Amino acid sequence: MIDSLRQVQVVGALARLAGHGGWARVLAGQPLETELDRADARLLVAAGVLRERDGGRLEPVDLHPWYDDPQTLACGIVAELRRALMHATDCDDLIPADPDEIVAMGIASRSVASILADAVLPMLPVTRDRLDDGTARFLDVGVGTGAIAQVLCEEFPGIEAVGLDVSVDALAIAKERLAGSRVGERIELRQQSVTELHEECAYDLAWMPQIFLCRTDLEQGLDRVHTALKPGCWLVMPVATGASDCTELERAAVEHEALVRGGGPMSVELAGDLLRQAGFTEVRDMLGVAQSLVMARKSPVSAVSAA
Ligand SMILES: C[S@@+](CC[C@H](N)C(=O)[O-])C[C@H]1O[C@@H](n2cnc3c(N)ncnc32)[C@H](O)[C@@H]1O
Repeated sequence: MIDSLRQVQVVGALARLAGHGGWARVLAGQPLETELDRADARLLVAAGVLRERDGGRLEPVDLHPWYDDPQTLACGIVAELRRALMHATDCDDLIPADPDEIVAMGIASRSVASILADAVLPMLPVTRDRLDDGTARFLDVGVGTGAIAQVLCEEFPGIEAVGLDVSVDALAIAKERLAGSRVGERIELRQQSVTELHEECAYDLAWMPQIFLCRTDLEQGLDRVHTALKPGCWLVMPVATGASDCTELERAAVEHEALVRGGGPMSVELAGDLLRQAGFTEVRDMLGVAQSLVMARKSPVSAVSAA
């Protein structure tokens, strides 16, 4: 109990240092200026977040996508703290309205998008070729701030994306962000649930994160996305499941977060069963630390032409 509360103190110190100039000075190798900054840093050294090099220079001990940008780090941690506070007061918000939280989730999505572009897409025949030749249409379910659609449109010139979301707040942030981006004109944002998607054979790639969708939306969504994909094209679905070698605390944290986010924990096996029930074939997976990616294909031969 006492240890956990100390960790809250450490997290608070990290957010303060990030939000008030100290973290930027650490990254630049400059000395901290105020007594409170130095006290925050001492706590972070003792907690193993920072380490002191020869000559007293401070540096982060490990790598994290948020560390490079103090603003991101501050917003991300404050959002996590607020979410913990909402949970503590039994006020979990399945569709977040807190702009810091929406932005923090978008930032987390940027690193996922790079994994998608660099490690996953090369494994997906047909879809890969359409992305490479710039003719693909990408469906981003739960587009949030638009980070994934933006990264893919930047990496694959010419492709177009449609982003669906039920959150007016997230879509407003996405609209503002994308207006300032060079790929904004290639991304269409729609306030629409995936359960209301009625297009057929319109997309070459779909992304639908299970952790954010309640079970009924997920199951209906899989049917809709299957119909909306072109034959031979792929859905990539992150699934909330801990890696087989994760610690008990890591597993409990993944399952807890999945429940709070709305989708609940789900095994890769169950995800595969749901995908096959929706008509997908060639189900594959790529196990990750906190979430695993499941890839599934719409058959290259449509049921009608095969009959
Ligand atoms: C937090 S975002 C994920 C981050 C996002 N990739 C980004 O770049 O910011 C997940 C979104 O799924 C949305 N969502 C939940 N249920 C949905 C549904 N049935 N259809 C479409 N979007 C949904 C939520 O409103 C939320 O904004």
